[in-house]
Amino acid sequence: MTEKEVNIQKEYIEKIREQIKNKNLKYNILTMGCQLNENDSEKLCGMLEEMGYEREENVKNADICLFNTCCVRENAEDKLFGKLGELKKLKEEKGIIIAIGGCMMQEKHITDKIKESYTFVDIIFGTHTLHRFPQDLYLSMQEKRKIEDVIDIDGEIYEGLPIKRDSSIKASVTIMNGCNNFCTYCIVPYVRGRERSRNPKDILEEVKKLASEGYKEVTLLGQNVNSYLRVEREKDIPFEKYEGIDSFAKLLRAVNKIDGIERIRFVSPHPKDFTDDVIDAIADCEKVCKLIHLPLQSGNTKVLKEMNRRYTKEQYLELVEKMKNKIPNLTLSTDIIVGFPGETDEEFEDTLDVVRKVKFEQVYMFIYSRRVGTPADRMENQIAEEDKHRRFNKLKELVESQIEENNKKYVGTTQKVLVEGESKNNSDMLTGRTDSNKVVIFEGTKDLVNKIVDLKIVSEHMWYLKGEVEK
Ligand code: SAH
Ligand code: SF4
Ligand code: F3S
Repeated sequence: MTEKEVNIQKEYIEKIREQIKNKNLKYNILTMGCQLNENDSEKLCGMLEEMGYEREENVKNADICLFNTCCVRENAEDKLFGKLGELKKLKEEKGIIIAIGGCMMQEKHITDKIKESYTFVDIIFGTHTLHRFPQDLYLSMQEKRKIEDVIDIDGEIYEGLPIKRDSSIKASVTIMNGCNNFCTYCIVPYVRGRERSRNPKDILEEVKKLASEGYKEVTLLGQNVNSYLRVEREKDIPFEKYEGIDSFAKLLRAVNKIDGIERIRFVSPHPKDFTDDVIDAIADCEKVCKLIHLPLQSGNTKVLKEMNRRYTKEQYLELVEKMKNKIPNLTLSTDIIVGFPGETDEEFEDTLDVVRKVKFEQVYMFIYSRRVGTPADRMENQIAEEDKHRRFNKLKELVESQIEENNKKYVGTTQKVLVEGESKNNSDMLTGRTDSNKVVIFEGTKDLVNKIVDLKIVSEHMWYLKGEVEK
């Protein structure tokens, strides 16, 4: 079924290729949101480049302008509508094609607003119809009409569509779509549908291909990666058996065996699904980076319950202890939301307490943002903006002081750094990342790019370390 659909899309790619031949047309793409969305954009870029479009960073020179949207927090909406305002002029002057896709397009109040107030938008497509972009584009060009291709039914998994990756060193591999957790603040389950996992064979083939192309690092992606194949297992949903892989732990072990890949990362796991087999696999697999992202969201048990996170403060701390004991050199990063409805100053103190205890390598901090359609949006005890900001600043201060403290520990140590290229701010220097994902800047020759080198850390700065090649 899906293979047939993929072939249909490939035919549309060919048709467009024929049509735009020798026209030297360009596309511009803007991606918001998480790594999953970035990976989706790489697929959109792959399709567009197969058609013959060339990427263009300046939207003024583009013939197609594409947005891949996110709706996890409100600021994403402001960004989209701001940008659409700017694009209106380009549309009038040059008649460029404007296409908007991604998570926000799964929200009816947003597509209604676009259709009402931004009538110059040509194509709207959702998360479940991304693979159909060639067809949408073809019909829009051919029939000169507006295309709305958004469905509410969970999209299938389509293998074999083209992809154009952003990096030639690190690659993302989406291993599952959707989320079944329904954290009460979160819009993702509504816009991405239910969890469905890719077949192990398809994932391993993709990673093997990446290795053969010279990629050194892969990041396995999903909204809840450690429940990979869990629904299939529990509900007896058939999937293609391959090398006995039926869980995330087994998948990690299989990826670890692939020659050429030197680093494996994954985001995001859920603490409630962090079973012992996953911890053991991380400890055993030498290529799996020991920086684990473990979203906390809140350190208070009552707030966690209201958030439907299904763990308590104590369970989270116990899990961290267990992981620290079993995984040598473990470092942790996390996500935290401040100002969830009903959160008191005292409850917020529990979040600070967990942060003090765990000493995260990195904390992604968010101010709670009301999302239409989520249970938390309907809660009556919303927190005043000024209280949210006050708590946010308090958390930020603590996190930054911890990062400064933590950075000092690196000085004098030797770190394995995967070299990614020239430093953006100083082209005489190279930049790379440690196992714990810290940026290291150092002097070195270009032949070190895409290699893992031993660097002695000589100084620390808030957001990067300085290193020297070991003699
Ligand atoms: N599935 C992942 C990531 C989800 S989105 C996970 O469970 O960790 C990334 C982060 O955005 C979340 O971890 C959460 O911290 C934050 N987030 C999600 N919804 C939010 C909201 N309504 N307001 C503020 N932050 C939110
Ligand atoms: Fe959202 Fe929770 Fe699912 Fe993460 S696990 S995507 S926070 S509902
Ligand atoms: Fe945003 Fe969608 Fe990712 S809402 S965080 S882009 S799954």
